[in-house]
Formats: sequence, structure tokens, C-alpha cells
Amino acid sequence: MSSPPQHSVEQSPRIPEEPEPPKHVAIIMDGNGRWASERGMHRSEGHRAGVNNVRRITTSFADHGVKYLTLFAFSTENWERPDDEVGFLISLMGEAVRQETQPLHDQGVRIRHIGRLDRLPDGLQDAIRESMELTKDNKGITLNLAYDYGGRAEIIDAVRAMVADGLRPDDITEDALQRHLYTAGLPDPDLIIRTAGEMRISNFLIWQSAYAEYYVTDVHWPDFDERQVAKALEAYGGRQRRYGRLDPDETS
Ligand code: IPE
Ligand code: IPE
Ligand code: MG
Repeated sequence: MSSPPQHSVEQSPRIPEEPEPPKHVAIIMDGNGRWASERGMHRSEGHRAGVNNVRRITTSFADHGVKYLTLFAFSTENWERPDDEVGFLISLMGEAVRQETQPLHDQGVRIRHIGRLDRLPDGLQDAIRESMELTKDNKGITLNLAYDYGGRAEIIDAVRAMVADGLRPDDITEDALQRHLYTAGLPDPDLIIRTAGEMRISNFLIWQSAYAEYYVTDVHWPDFDERQVAKALEAYGGRQRRYGRLDPDETS
């Protein structure tokens, strides 16, 4: 009599291993204006469509196991745009924070801000502080909003903070600087995505991105959807990160 088939873990078909997702993804959300112009709409409609894309993309990265998502929403240089566009972007941010905080909170998202708060209207500063306070103990993905953010301003602010703390020349190390950046406590970004095709960093996370992988897509931010998220993560999964070293099989 033949013995019953043995089912063991070893015999089950091998499921291909999913590559490790990046821990921290940062996105330069570009192309809102072009998205609107291509549709004969005002640029502001592109910005609105861009804001409406934030929650689905946050959820999508969280579903893929990403722990930190940083979104570049307004740069220190964006103040140089025409007054009506700047005014619109500021009021849109206020609207978005008020409208999106609760649904993001319900999903366990922790909201943080990086950049300067002091140049924003008081009402917007309060709304941002309230959304950080409400969500601070959440255990889901951390959504880091880079608003009035510039990488050079961040480094200058960090140097000033170190001087104010009384650090001496020998105390000024990479770790010390890192601890004084807006991003203190966050891991460096593993993957930086830029939508709308431009191959530049535009003053975004210039210290933290020293060894980030870059992914640029021609898709404009309002059209960047779950499929685009999967494509970016797949591209990242195929990268070999060497940090200046050699591959293990080249060191024998
Ligand atoms: C990105 O979209 C949003 C911000 C910079 C605030 P843009 O407004 O830069 O869109 P394009 O680059 O003009 O298409
Ligand atoms: C970068 O986009 C800033 C944000 C996405 C918030 P910009 O549109 O400001 O960048 P440049 O001017 O093309 O470099
Ligand atoms: Mg742009």
C-alpha cells in the first residue's frame, strides 16, 4: 500500500521572494501645471488634482510596506511664482490639511512637516500643528509634508542650531548635523521619485539623498497612480546599492 502523499513546507512550490521595499520614499510631485495646460485648464486645477492624488498614493505605498513617504509640495523657491499662484497654493494647503487629516488619521497615518512654518499664515501653521498632534501616536506610514522646504535652507538652519547649542568644531560630525536637520529621526530616503520628466533635484533633500536611488517618470503628478507606484518599486527592486563598495562576488 502506498503511503499518503507527504505535504511539507519544503515540497510546496517556491513563491518568488518579494524584494525588500524601500523604507523611505520621497517624491518631487511635479507637473501639475502642465497636466492642467494640456487639458486647457487653469494651472490651479492641476494643483487641485495633485492634492486629490495624495491620499491614494499614500495608501498605495503603505500597502507595499513603505514606512516613510515624503512629499515635496512647496519649495523655498516657489515663493518666486506669481502672487496669485502662491496665494492659491497656500490656501489649497490649508484646505487639504483640514480635509485630509481625518481620513488619513483613520488609516493610521502619522503626519509630519519638514521645512519652515514661520512664513506661513497663522491659520495654516495651526492646522499643520493640529494634524501632527492628532496623528503623532499613529503606527502606520509616516507622511512627511515638505512645505516651504529647501535643502540649502535646511542645512543653514541646522548649522545655526548647532552653533546655538554651543557645539565646538570637533563636535561637528555628520551625525551631529543629521540630528539638527528637519528630518532628524527619519531614515534617509532610499528612493526619490520625480514625476513630469525633469532630471533634477530642485533643492530637495540634498543632504539626505547622498545614496538615494532616483526614478524619473514622464507621468504628471495628478496621473501618477497605483500602477506607477508598482512600476517605481519594481525599478527600485532591480537596483544594486553599493554605497561605494564592491559587490560581494567581486571581493573574492
Ligand atoms: C508641482 O507642479 C507643484 C509645485 C511646484 C507647487 P508645477 O506647478 O511645478 O507644475 P509644472 O512643472 O509647471 O507643470
Ligand atoms: C519642485 O518643482 C518643487 C515641488 C514639486 C514642490 P518645481 O516645478 O518648483 O521645480 P523646477 O522649478 O522645475 O526645478
Ligand atoms: Mg514644476
